[in-house]
Amino acid sequence: MIEQTTIKKLSETSNLTDIELKELLENDFLDEELYREADRVRKENYGTDVYIRGLIEFTNYCKNNCYYCGLRYENREIERYRLSKEDILNCCNEGYNLGFRTFVLQGGEDPFYTDEKLCDIISSIKNLYSDIAVTLSIGEKKDESYLAFKKAGADRYLLRHETANENHYSKLHPANMSLANRKNCLKTLKKLGYQIGSGFMVGSPFQTTENIIEDIRFLQELSPDMIGIGPYITHHNTPFKNQKNGDVKLTLKLISILRLMFPYALLPATTALGTLSPNGRELGLKVGANVVMPNLSPKNVRKKYEIYENKICTGEESAQCKRCLERRIESIGYKIIISKGDVKRK
Ligand code: 5AD
Ligand code: SF4
Ligand code: FES
Repeated sequence: MIEQTTIKKLSETSNLTDIELKELLENDFLDEELYREADRVRKENYGTDVYIRGLIEFTNYCKNNCYYCGLRYENREIERYRLSKEDILNCCNEGYNLGFRTFVLQGGEDPFYTDEKLCDIISSIKNLYSDIAVTLSIGEKKDESYLAFKKAGADRYLLRHETANENHYSKLHPANMSLANRKNCLKTLKKLGYQIGSGFMVGSPFQTTENIIEDIRFLQELSPDMIGIGPYITHHNTPFKNQKNGDVKLTLKLISILRLMFPYALLPATTALGTLSPNGRELGLKVGANVVMPNLSPKNVRKKYEIYENKICTGEESAQCKRCLERRIESIGYKIIISKGDVKRK
């Protein structure tokens, strides 16, 4: 039986047994206590500060075919686009003026952007601004590439592991992708000195409570700076078109658990959470999250970066979105901070 003492133990030791985790995940009557404790620990570490990251979705081409994602290679229905270096620098300029001090270059795995092109873009951004961080979110690359990007000035790298269970991984990805390779990438990135982010989708098809527990154990081993989780959302033009969406409440519960297990961590309230629930991101922030990642992509490409359906913020300009977000965050008693927003490890 799940009890108050379980939450106390989780908070005091930043850990639970598999059995306790399973009980916590599968019962909801102590959710409110869990949320409250997570918010307390969040405030102990980060106060009411919310860090913002400007997301620049610079290409929706992808050579991969992940079964869950709308950008997959075999989706012939989306209109593909690539941003030029100039486009990207314009996004950074606009973002900088809006107070962003982290730029996240995110894209599908697109071989058009050679290491040379990417290094040029990274170093150009770093040369323009002295007080910002560049984060990459461009998937699995060779070790040499990760090294080259680091030397060009990249500071951080986001690569969700997606699921830490081999069998589950093989149900979400075609045979040419492997969990082993993904784990190796994360290991390399860490060794090269990147601040790293990993994470997984909540409620992805075939996910079990045991899988989620394995995800948590994997994260404990990896000890990433950032952990991004969001509900899985079905896309009509993927092999998973008949699968159901992930659960908002389970996502919130997991954010709380992650806050208590990783008190120092950067935990985003994701766009996917805001897509499934009108106040999803606010709810995420109230139960332990401390980061939001609004879109800085040019308005005319936003709808085309359709990883999943009905993605929010695709009809707004960057400035509108920033204002909207600021209002939302202030309405729940937190505040956006103009800062690189590095992790606070004890
Ligand atoms: N629903 C929710 N999240 C998704 N992602 C990819 N497809 C979906 C989907 N259908 C997530 C993956 C990826 C990140 C960029 O977006 O976890 O790592
Ligand atoms: Fe490509 Fe990433 Fe989508 Fe997989 S999840 S198809 S790698 S963009
Ligand atoms: Fe983007 Fe509200 S946060 S429009």
